[in-house]
Amino acid sequence: MAVCENLNIDDFKTWVICPGDIFYQTKAGKNIHLHAPGDLINHSFFSKYLPYKDQLYIEMLVDRSLIAEGKAYLEDWIKKENILEQRRAALEFLNWVHSKYWKNAEKACLLDLSMVFFESFFKSHSLQELLKDTNIEYFKRSLAASAIGSVLSICLGYFNPTVVMDFYNIVYLLDVKIHESFSSFKIWESFESDRINGPLNYDLSEKEKKIIADHVGEIDFNNDHFDNIKNLQLLNLLNKHHETINGKGFPFALTENELSDLECVLIFSNNLISIVNHSFNENDGREFFKNILNYNDRDLGRTLGRRISKISVNVFKNFDEVA
Ligand SMILES: [Fe+2]
Repeated sequence: MAVCENLNIDDFKTWVICPGDIFYQTKAGKNIHLHAPGDLINHSFFSKYLPYKDQLYIEMLVDRSLIAEGKAYLEDWIKKENILEQRRAALEFLNWVHSKYWKNAEKACLLDLSMVFFESFFKSHSLQELLKDTNIEYFKRSLAASAIGSVLSICLGYFNPTVVMDFYNIVYLLDVKIHESFSSFKIWESFESDRINGPLNYDLSEKEKKIIADHVGEIDFNNDHFDNIKNLQLLNLLNKHHETINGKGFPFALTENELSDLECVLIFSNNLISIVNHSFNENDGREFFKNILNYNDRDLGRTLGRRISKISVNVFKNFDEVA
């Protein structure tokens, strides 16, 4: 069980992502919830509470020792230049993921895995700055979706760490054109409705419809947000992130056979996590990959490609056999 303790202000000032639930307790004993696990911390908003440090509490969710363990694997992988060594290091990391997030592990929190990637791979600092006052929910779902997509891309054989690192950051940047141009909660609601129910005629203004149509159009490679992407061809992924594998997505209405493995992983990861109300919990990572890759789950049928399901399941099952 998570422990509730006084918030250490010095530690708090160094955090980018909130590692637990933070509360402010009023003199009358009422708890006001200020931040949830995985939130991008809004330090300017929070500053007014800092003088009342004795009334600030945190219920910690993350396990720093587990995060350090995962990061050590990724950081070892990043250093490898030889293809065979990259493959070996990537598989060692996957073996670790298997032991924590495929098996029924004692402790398995998805925020720990998300933090492993965030602290090793994250480079989209300009987006972080753009979202900190307006859309921390979007940032939180990207934190999870990008980590999940990165694991699956390694399963599919992407063993070059710079490619996976770029892919990781692109998942944050999928909707950057929307963030830059207009802030409308209705757009995010319509994406959430699409994610759950399939394409619907959501009630949007002509301006909102145009913004949605334009964000999967021509890519402006000069956009500052893409400065840290090394493999520029991967930016073409942005055009296809609203496709679904059943030919009912947009703008191209492609089917699974017309999409690359990495595009399928992107579509799946982007649809897996709620864009407006994702919450991280204590045991949400238990048997996580085993559950999400279950192709017979009808809810995932629109977005989980048969190829990525089959290949990824086989990779994890191989670790079962050698364990
Ligand atoms: Fe989008």
